[in-house]
Amino acid sequence: MFGKKKNVPQIDKEQLELIQNAQKRIKQKKRLYAHFVVFLIGALFLILANTVLGIGKNFKIAEIEWFVFAILLWLFFLLYHIFNVFVTHKFMGKAWEQKQLDKLVALQKNRIEKIKTELKKEAPHIAKSEVYNEQLNNKKTQELTIIVAAAENNAIGKDNKLIWHLSNDLKRFKTLTNGHHIIMGRKTFESFPKPLPNRTHVVITRQQNYKVPEGVITVNSLEAAIEACKTDAQPFIIGGGQIYEQAMNIADKIELTRVHETFEADAFFPEIDTNIWKETSNTFHKKDDNHKHEFSFITYTRK
Ligand SMILES: NC(=O)c1ccc[n+]([C@@H]2O[C@H](COP(=O)([O-])OP(=O)(O)OC[C@H]3O[C@@H](n4cnc5c(N)ncnc54)[C@H](OP(=O)(O)O)[C@@H]3O)[C@@H](O)[C@H]2O)c1
Repeated sequence: MFGKKKNVPQIDKEQLELIQNAQKRIKQKKRLYAHFVVFLIGALFLILANTVLGIGKNFKIAEIEWFVFAILLWLFFLLYHIFNVFVTHKFMGKAWEQKQLDKLVALQKNRIEKIKTELKKEAPHIAKSEVYNEQLNNKKTQELTIIVAAAENNAIGKDNKLIWHLSNDLKRFKTLTNGHHIIMGRKTFESFPKPLPNRTHVVITRQQNYKVPEGVITVNSLEAAIEACKTDAQPFIIGGGQIYEQAMNIADKIELTRVHETFEADAFFPEIDTNIWKETSNTFHKKDDNHKHEFSFITYTRK
């Protein structure tokens, strides 16, 4: 099945015949040219043999030197050779050549038509694969980012509310997600008093007629949510627990605020597998007047 492909000659019989004839003709002309050169040298040699070396000085026919007859005889053979090449063996007459040319043109036209039909058949497949590649490139250039604040025990919320208030964490969330799409589960969306400004909300729900304020997008799956963000180079998955769980397999980055305490909760962030995720930055923050708990901003990227 995967053996070496047999080498089938790509040239047809008529083309081959044409090429062979052309090669034959070149050989004939080359031989004639060689004959002509040898004749010139030979004739010169005969003249010199008689006039300089004195060979057959006294041999004359009708008062004419013998070498003249020898040269004339040779010239006759040369002319005969020329006649043979250009007349007797001129098998490629104008009409014949034209016929061959017409055949060749017809053949090529046929081939072009065949290729055109094949191309027409292939066009939809090519177009599909181009779209696929475009989508693939879009995917590659898009950085799907999870943003979350999780306690040491991965607690993220209780009774559909956040457990802590950390003003720097909220500021960071605002800065990072500003101007982007934010993807969330229906429950997280309902935990907001109103949609956050300057962000496109994409809410995932299984409900078909879920009512949302103008500008909020609703979808029925995580895949549809990502599709809705395809123009955004960095859409954010902002929770909650159910959506994080599903997004962990497809996200490219995690922006985690690790709150260094343990809390009672009913919503949790999944365990971060360090075989899959690589920590690329880590900034620790102490407790202060605005922050009741110690926390760290940690960035992970997929290995
Ligand atoms: N600490 C943080 O950073 C952070 C961030 C965000 C949220 N939270 C907290 O997390 C908690 C909420 O998380 P949660 O897990 O309870 O809820 P959630 O993930 O916000 O939303 C769950 C809902 O999303 C929809 N859904 C989930 N998977 C779906 C799918 N595959 N297809 C279609 N719809 C799907 C369902 O909506 P329907 O029931 O309408 O079908 C489901 O009930 C809250 O306490 C919130 O405060 C914390």
